[in-house]
Parts: sequence; C-alpha cells; structure tokens
Amino acid sequence: MVRSERRRKGASADDFAHELIAGLRARPRRVSPKWFYDEQGSRLFEEICELPEYYPTRTELALLERHAPEMAGLIGANAEIIEFGAGASRKIRMLLAALPSPARYLPVDISGAHLVQAAQALQDDHPGLRVEPVVADFTVALSLPAPVGTRVGFFPGGSIGNFDPAAASRLLRRMAGWLSGGSLLIGVDLIKDPELLHAAYNDARGVTAAFNLNLLARANRELGADFDLAQFAHSAFYNPPLARIEMHLMSRCVQTVSFCGECFDFAEGDSVHTESSYKYTVPGFRQLARAAGWSPRALWVDAARQFSLHWLQPARME
Ligand code: AVJ
Repeated sequence: MVRSERRRKGASADDFAHELIAGLRARPRRVSPKWFYDEQGSRLFEEICELPEYYPTRTELALLERHAPEMAGLIGANAEIIEFGAGASRKIRMLLAALPSPARYLPVDISGAHLVQAAQALQDDHPGLRVEPVVADFTVALSLPAPVGTRVGFFPGGSIGNFDPAAASRLLRRMAGWLSGGSLLIGVDLIKDPELLHAAYNDARGVTAAFNLNLLARANRELGADFDLAQFAHSAFYNPPLARIEMHLMSRCVQTVSFCGECFDFAEGDSVHTESSYKYTVPGFRQLARAAGWSPRALWVDAARQFSLHWLQPARME
C-alpha cells in the first residue's frame, strides 16, 4: 500500500455547499472549476485528455517524452517531486522513466479516492519509489511532510490557466514557499487560432459538455440538489481580449433549483461561469513568472507552438 502520511482533508461536501451557494448568489454567477473533480468528474477529465480535439495532453506528453533526459538532468538526483493536481499521475511517468533515483514522489490532489488509486497504481509500477499522496485543496492550504530530498515542483497540463493572472501570480509565489528553494516545471497552454481553442472545449462527442454538467450532477448527488441537467446547456468560447476560454452552464428556461434549504432562480439564458482557462504567449508567461519571484530558464515548445513547458528557478537563488 502507498503511504499517505498526511491525509489532510481535500475538500468536504460542506465546503462545496458553501461555495456553490455563494457562487449562485453572486452576479455574475460563478463556481470554481476545482469542484469539477469528484470521482465522475475526474473520469470525464481523463476522457477529455484522449479526445482528438483536446491537443494539450498529447502535446505535453510528447514534449515530456522527448525531453525527459534533459529535464531529468535539471531535476537531478535525490529529488523530491511534488506534483500539483496530480490526477491520474500519468505525466510523471515520463519523467520517472528518465530519473535515476528520485527520493520521493508527493502527488497532491483535491480528488481523494482518485488520487490514492492512481498513487497505488504508480507504486505498483515503481516498487522502489516512495509514493505518498497528499489529499489537499492547495488553493486553500497545503501541509507537506518534512522534505527527504531536493524539492522540485511539477504543475503540468496548463492548470495554471484556471487562475486569473493575479491569482496565478499569487499561487506561483506560494509554490515557491512550498518548494523551499526548489525549481518548478510547469505546463502552460499557448494562445493560438481561436478555432482550435474553441474545438478543444467543444468536442464532437460532448465529453466536455458532460464534464461541465457533472458539476450540477455532483450537486444533485452530494447536496441533494434538484438540477435538471436537460435544462442547462454547456457553453464554451474563447474570449480574445482576456486570452481565456470561458466555460458556462446556461439555463435553457425560467427555472428554480433548490438545495440545502435554499432556492435559486434562473431566467432563460442566465449563466453560471464554471471555468476560465487562460492562454499565454511564451514571453507573457515568463513575465508573469518573473513578477512572482521566479527566474525562467529552460523552455520546451512543440513545433506547432501549441503548448509550452517552463523550467523556473527561484529568483533569489541567482
Ligand atoms: C485541467 C484546467 C488544464 O483548462 O484545459 C478541459 C480543464 N476544462 N476541458 C483546461 C478542462 C475543459 C483543463 N485544465
């Protein structure tokens, strides 16, 4: 069994209820995308990663595979790798294949059962590796065990795009603290043809729509809400001035939904903003990283310039 030393609570049904109520009372209505990732949502996200339209996963995996030796050289021996939002822990496998002797792997994720399962699978494939999953909502707090090696952060997938630039900058600063002098390997999705971006969040099979709507299904399951999923539409579009994909759930009619003793009215066309996914240029992201106390070093970008991986060192280490 994997050791899960610090099973701090990821996020409870109570937290979800409070945030959903506050978000539906707010105008514009909004809910954090972190609530997508219950068991069902984590599974749907993995399905998204396999979609032909969803280029980020395969592009980043190819970059990791191709440049793993160089990345492993930068990571060095005796590294303690902390992955933020580890999910299925698929990408770390590329690095592990090239790393001689990592001290420990600490996958951090909000989706507890899913994380522990993935960590167990990784442990089975790497019997010699210390794997210790940390169930936590790192947007709130993160408590890590004492280091056993040189810390290196891994934040792949372009998930930094879920934070608006100010929040992204704050998170990058906090990561520097958690990594205590260690470097960060971070994946960043790039600004590109809006049609490609649009297609990536509006797949033909409707998996992204199901992923978005699962937020309401989760509220029904966990909070006893009475959302009629057929009466909400998935809406995702690229907002060029803000360089972000926006996902919304749009009410198809006048309706009232209730849960936890509260009622929420929707007019036809009212929307709940469920996710932003910011896209960057390489210089734009490097500037953000610099402003957050990091010194951008190595950079890997695919030939079609769809996705980027950045090696950031703490600026004070220079
Ligand atoms: C996991 C945040 C990187 O923004 O592309 C995929 C989530 N949402 N399809 C992204 C997501 C809809 C994904 N991140």
